[in-house]
Amino acid sequence: MSPSTHHRSSSSPAVHAAVVGLQWGDEGKGKIVDLLTSRYDCIVRYNGGANAGHTVQVGTERYALHLIPSGILGSGKINIVGNGVVVDPEKLLDEVDGLRKRGVHVGDNLRISDRAHVVMPYHKEQDAALEELLEKKSGKSGAGQIGTTRRGIGPAYSDKVRRSTALRMGDLLDHALLLRKLETICGLRMAELEALGASVTPLIPEQLAARFAAAGERLRPHITDTVYLVHDEINAGRSVLFEGANACLLDIDHGTFPYVTSSNCSTLGIPAGSGVPGRMIGKVYGIMKAYSTRVGGGPFVTELLDETGNRIRARGREYGTTTGRPRRCGWLDLVAVKYSVMVCGADAIACTLLDVLSGFDELKICVGYRRPDGSVTDRFVPDAERMNGFTPIYETLPGWERELTACTDRDDLPREAQAYLGFVENFVGIPVELVSVGPERSQTFESSQRFAAAH
Ligand code: IMP
Repeated sequence: MSPSTHHRSSSSPAVHAAVVGLQWGDEGKGKIVDLLTSRYDCIVRYNGGANAGHTVQVGTERYALHLIPSGILGSGKINIVGNGVVVDPEKLLDEVDGLRKRGVHVGDNLRISDRAHVVMPYHKEQDAALEELLEKKSGKSGAGQIGTTRRGIGPAYSDKVRRSTALRMGDLLDHALLLRKLETICGLRMAELEALGASVTPLIPEQLAARFAAAGERLRPHITDTVYLVHDEINAGRSVLFEGANACLLDIDHGTFPYVTSSNCSTLGIPAGSGVPGRMIGKVYGIMKAYSTRVGGGPFVTELLDETGNRIRARGREYGTTTGRPRRCGWLDLVAVKYSVMVCGADAIACTLLDVLSGFDELKICVGYRRPDGSVTDRFVPDAERMNGFTPIYETLPGWERELTACTDRDDLPREAQAYLGFVENFVGIPVELVSVGPERSQTFESSQRFAAAH
C-alpha cells in the first residue's frame, strides 16, 4: 500500500503511543484501544497470538477479537499484525470472515508481517499434551501446569527460537518451500508428540502443506514486510498506536515466571515485535482493572477465594474471552501495578471496570507483601517460586453504594470512588487519565484533573 493512500487524522497527536495491560491480562485493553484508535492512523499488534481476547462493544454489538487489532472496527485505519505475533492462519481467517459477515470492512486495512511465525495444528497438540503431562506429574514432583490457553503459543515461539522447525507467514506463499520445510518438521514433531504421551495422528507433510498454502493464498493480499510499512507510515507523518496483547505480568522475562506467556508482552516487546525503536514511542497508557484477576496458574497474592471473590467475578463477568474459563479474582494489587508501570514506562493509567466495585462497604488495596519469614517488602518478585507464601498488606478504603454505569465524568463519581483513584495515583505516581464504568464506548471518560486532589 502506498503511504499516500491514507491521510493523517486531523486530531492525531505528534507522538506514537502504546497501550499495555498492567496486570495479568483482561484489563479491558480492547475497549481503551478502540477509544484511542480515532486519534491514530495505524494500530500495531506486536506480541502474542490467539491466546489474547479483546472484547470491544460498539453500540449493542459486541466483538471478540483475538489476532486482529481492535482498530479494524474504526474506519480508515491500517491494522498491522507485527513480526512478533504468532499467527494461527485458520483462526485469523475465521476472524476475518466473522467480521465481514457483520459488515466490518477487512481489506487493505489489515496487514500481516511476512515474518510473523505460524501456529500450526501440531503446536496446539503439543501445548495440550504438555499441560496434561504436567498435570499427571504434578502430584509427584510438584511441577504444576502453566494453565495455558492451549492455543499453541508456547510451542510456536519455541520453534521460532529453535529456528530449524519454524514456519513464517511468508513461507505460506510458496507451496514448494512450505512442503520442503514440513517434510523435515513432521517426522520430528511426531516423535516429540509421542514422547509427550500424546495420541499421535500422523502428520502428513503434503496434506498440511496443501491446507496451509490454501490459507496463505487467502491471506496473500494482507501479507507484507510490515517493518518497512510502519516506517513508511511514520515517515509520512502518520501516527501509530501499539496494542499490547496479554499483559506485563505475563511477560516471559518480566512476569511471574514460569506462569507467563511466551512473548514479551510488556512494552519492551514493541521494538523487537514491530521493528520500531522504543524511543519513538511518546506515550504509554497502562490499563489497570480496578481489582485483580488472573487465568491459569501462578502467584496471586491478593486472590480472594471467598464470597467477595465470587461477587467480583459475577459482577465483572470474569470469564475468559478466549477459553471461557472462570477467572481468579482479588483486590487491587498496587505493588504489582507499580512494578508494571516501571517496566513499561507507563505515563498514564486507564482504570477499567470501576463500576464492578459498587456496593462494597469497604475496599482493600494491596500496598506491600509480607514474606513467610515475617519480613515485608514493597517490591514485586517476578518469579513464582520466590513469591511462594507471600501475603498481602492492605490499606482499607471506604466503598460506595451507588452504581457507576451512568457516570460520564470524574465529578459524577461518588467521593469514595474518586478517593480510590486518588489513592492509586498517589501510590503509583502517574495520573489516572481514563476511567471506564461499563462496556460501551460512551462509558469511558477522560479526566484531565488529578484524582489525588480528591483524596
Ligand atoms: P499461553 O499464552 O496460552 O501459553 O498461556 C500462558 C498463561 O498466560 C496462562 O496462565 C494463560 O491463562 C495466560 N494468558 C495468556 N493470554 C492471556 C490473556 O490474554 N489474558 C489472560 N491470561 C492470558
